[in-house]
Amino acid sequence: MAEKEQQVHPLAPADKHPRSDEESASSLQSKELKRKKRIKYAVYIAAFAVFQTGVILVFALTVMRVKNPKVRIGRVTIETMETNNTGAAAASFDLKFIAQVTVKNTNFGHYKFDNSTMTFLYDGVIVGEAIIPKARARARSTKKLDVTVEVNSRALTTTTGLESELSSNLLTLNSQAKLKGQVELMKVMKKKKSPEMNCILTFNVSTRNLQDLNCK
Ligand SMILES: *[C@@H]1O[C@H](CO)[C@@H](O)[C@H](O)[C@H]1NC(C)=O
Ligand SMILES: *[C@@H]1O[C@H](CO)[C@@H](O)[C@H](O)[C@H]1NC(C)=O
Ligand SMILES: *[C@@H]1O[C@H](CO)[C@@H](O)[C@H](O)[C@H]1NC(C)=O
Repeated sequence: MAEKEQQVHPLAPADKHPRSDEESASSLQSKELKRKKRIKYAVYIAAFAVFQTGVILVFALTVMRVKNPKVRIGRVTIETMETNNTGAAAASFDLKFIAQVTVKNTNFGHYKFDNSTMTFLYDGVIVGEAIIPKARARARSTKKLDVTVEVNSRALTTTTGLESELSSNLLTLNSQAKLKGQVELMKVMKKKKSPEMNCILTFNVSTRNLQDLNCK
């Protein structure tokens, strides 16, 4: 090998110099170009990494963040309403109405929940129950379910509070429920969510209407 190099070298001087200058100049140029290209790629890759991190962050903070659905009573349609507050008998009420239960799901995946019990209370005493049937609220939508409810004052042990409330022409009920279900994201990620409902329904006794509905 050493010999061959020695053989080659003597031939070089005359016309190799200018060529080698050109060559070295162009190789320098191409080296510089390669270096610039490498920097460019590095910048692209870094920018892409930053962009992707941003996308993942936004995704994690919006799409993948599972929020608790909201359960409320949206509307009440009274079918029958009877109240007694005069005469010898104790004050009483008997109502049948359709409560429209709304399940608002703001997630990017559907919320599937089981049957659950909706409880109605008067002054802390359970006066009626109804079943919210199992259903599925689609992604970013509100599921509406009509639930028939029957409540009456038979379970009350004391009616003095009711008597005074009815005499002011009002009847106030409290409704509570807790759903049990899960939000499903991208068909793989499942997260349990148990939103609670707590509403106050105020009926107007003289007009037999729902006067006020307040859900938290
Ligand atoms: C109210 O009183 C009437 C007559 O006394 C009775 O027929 C009715 O069932 C009572 N209603 C309720 C809700 O208790
Ligand atoms: C849910 O309720 C319906 C009636 O409303 C009943 O037929 C069904 O068996 C219940 N399912 C469960 C899992 O309790
Ligand atoms: C019941 O409704 C009527 C008609 O809207 C109203 O005039 C009355 O004040 C209401 N009663 C009560 C106790 O708010």
